[in-house]
Formats: sequence, C-alpha cells, structure tokens
Amino acid sequence: VKGIQIAIDGPAAAGKSTIAKITAEKLGYTYIDTGAMYRALTHKAIEQGIDINDGDALENLLKETEIILLPSTVVQSVIMDGRDVTDAIRSEGVTRYVSAAATHEGVRKRMVEKQRELSEGTGVVMDGRDIGTAVLPDAELKIFMTASVEERALRRHIENEKRGITSSLEQLKAEISERDRADSERVVSPLKQAEDAFLIDTTQMTIEEVAGKISKLAEAGI
Ligand code: C5P
Repeated sequence: VKGIQIAIDGPAAAGKSTIAKITAEKLGYTYIDTGAMYRALTHKAIEQGIDINDGDALENLLKETEIILLPSTVVQSVIMDGRDVTDAIRSEGVTRYVSAAATHEGVRKRMVEKQRELSEGTGVVMDGRDIGTAVLPDAELKIFMTASVEERALRRHIENEKRGITSSLEQLKAEISERDRADSERVVSPLKQAEDAFLIDTTQMTIEEVAGKISKLAEAGI
C-alpha cells in the first residue's frame, strides 16, 4: 500500500509544518514543505539581484535551479544548487519578498509540476497555500488550518525566543497579516479553503490535539 495524500493549507505561521511533520512521521509518509521551495527561489533571486516582480526573470531563474528537500523528521533540510540553505531561507529578507515571488503564474506552474512529481508513488503530507485547491486536488484528506493572527504571531515570537532571535510581537503580527493578505488576494491559486477541506481552528488547541485530530481523520481516510 503506498498510502494516501494529505494536503495541509492555511495562512502563515498557523503551525502547518509542525503538524505536517508529526503526521508524516506517524504514518511513515514523505513530508513536503512547499513554502521552502518558494523561499529557496526567493533567496536565490535576492542573492543575484533579480527583480522579484519580474515573473519571466524568476521563471528563468527557477529553470536553472535545483531544489532538493531532504526528508527528515526534525528539520527538513533544503539544498539549493548543492548548497544547504535551510536557515538562509527563513531570513527576514526572504520572508518579506517570498509572497511577491509566489504570485507569478510561470513560477507557480513549474513549482506545482515539481511538487506533483515529488508526491508520486508515495504516501505524502504536503503543506502550503494551494495544495488542496491546485497541487493535489484529488488528495484523500484536505485540512485547512487557521488560528487568530494574535495567536500565530505569539507562537512565532516564542519560537524565535527559543532560537535566540529577538523579534517584536507587533511587527510579527503586521508581517503575518500582510503575507496573508498578499497570498489571499493574488490572482493565481490564492490561499483559499478547498470545498472538501476540513477546517481546523487551532487557536485554542495544543500541537498534540491538532495532530491527534488529523491522525483520526487520516485513519478514517485510509
Ligand atoms: O509556508 P511558508 O510560510 O514558508 O511559505 C512562504 C510563502 O510561500 C507563502 O507566504 C506564500 O507566498 C508562498 N507559498 C505559496 N504556495 C505554497 C506554499 C507557499 O504561494 N504552496
């Protein structure tokens, strides 16, 4: 049995990747962080001084870029053109520009193709913004994970503190809201709950509760 496809979408910092990793580990599935792929491209564009708003330039850049997601249950390492960019793609600069880079149709088309290839022949947990609506429309289980913006900013703030990164709660809130707005308002595959997705509001839930709920839904789907 190869397993099912599980799509997890939702706004920024809703805990999608944490939950996706736990779920993938439990089921022995492959975890695919699609946001990391858009981040890697954005990182390379910034490095090379390429205009984030130039869709053709970004698509050409993507054509000659190799992005590999190394499977791991702890940190999903991201290797771009043979370099480990796992930490670099989480930088403030990349976070600021990634939504603009992700608006371009040509870029998205190539990313979606690659994401579908990665999910072939294996049970998969994929997280992003358009997985249930565009990348894996036939996924057996679709989750739309949300939480209030205050809660999401607070979680990111605490996570940063643990990593020794100073951040301002107000600034995080503004950054997250702005990214949600950009991702929801873009023309191509905007952030949107798929009609057949289960909505999980995690504002008042622990990681264990959310993971448990998804496991139950997955078992029912298997
Ligand atoms: O998931 P993460 O926050 O790392 O994603 C970074 C950005 O990449 C999102 O804000 C969004 O603009 C873009 N993205 C996307 N489609 C996906 C995953 C991420 O447009 N499937």
